[in-house]
Amino acid sequence: MNLTELNRVATAMVAPGKGILAADESSGTIKKRFDAIGVESTEGNRRDYREMLFRSEEAMRQHISGVILYDETIWQNAKDGTPLIKLIEQSGAIPGIKVDEGTQALPMCPGETVTVGLDKLAERLKKYYERGARFAKWRAVIDIGSGIPSMTAISVNAHALARYAALCQAAQIVPIVEPEVLMDGDHDIDRCYEVTQRVLNKTFQELRVQRVALEGMVLKPNMAVSGKKCAKQASVAEVAEKTVRLLKACVPAAVPGIAFLSGGQSDEEATAHLDAMNRLGRLPWGLTFSYGRALQAAPQKAWSGKAENVAAGQRAFSHRARMNGLASQGKWDPSQEKKAA
Ligand code: 13P
Repeated sequence: MNLTELNRVATAMVAPGKGILAADESSGTIKKRFDAIGVESTEGNRRDYREMLFRSEEAMRQHISGVILYDETIWQNAKDGTPLIKLIEQSGAIPGIKVDEGTQALPMCPGETVTVGLDKLAERLKKYYERGARFAKWRAVIDIGSGIPSMTAISVNAHALARYAALCQAAQIVPIVEPEVLMDGDHDIDRCYEVTQRVLNKTFQELRVQRVALEGMVLKPNMAVSGKKCAKQASVAEVAEKTVRLLKACVPAAVPGIAFLSGGQSDEEATAHLDAMNRLGRLPWGLTFSYGRALQAAPQKAWSGKAENVAAGQRAFSHRARMNGLASQGKWDPSQEKKAA
């Protein structure tokens, strides 16, 4: 393992003004997104859609440091025969790959899951590296509800995340470690804070036990936010203050960067929260975005599966990428949203 190189890649993934495009929706998830815009989820349509994103020059060159791909996409070619992964490399962004295989019910823990995909992972990583992937992603899912999460669910998911991270580093691939505490539910921000703290502490404990080099990874956490169904929604300032406090308490400074998931926040909320955090003063790590929905909802709608809408889709993507690029430097304000609209 070459840790200097892993650290170089991890640092580039969180470069100031840039962040990660999470375009790694599984076939099931992308079908849901396409259903919402009335587009059939065929292999061709998935290719056309992602090709549109990766050919968005302004967004890709200026605001996107890396792209997380799904297995199908990493092997796909653009319409003109160029591998999609080449389009990403040509834009100067780093290609990455989702390697977990989703969640399964956790025995004895009703309502809870564990993320699977460790079997044969070493072999798969080797193939992805040869194809050009320089980082990977594994998402653990922790739900908040009455009596959950259990310590069992937190432990097994943290253990799997660390197993995955160690295998990635051995394959010279930077692991994005993503323990997502869901924002569904009616819990308040303090309950989210408390659960996320337990999850992050357990995750870093496992990473240490399994000898993962913190300098060669990126953390992808949720923010501390109110549950979607909570009557009392925390303000932008409260989310920023509590999230930064939580991360400072749990994430060692050796980690080069933290790239948040959007997790169902609205596009503008996700941007405003990131911006507010980056205005709180110097932080020990880079703090940026690794958004799926908050970067793609607008371009999906603008595109709606029609070739004549490709330019509009690219404009919508570039706008969101630019707004989040500004937020990653604490330089965004709402008037920039209106100017572009
Ligand atoms: P969202 O930003 O839509 O939560 O997706 C990010 C992601 O990669 C989840 O695994």
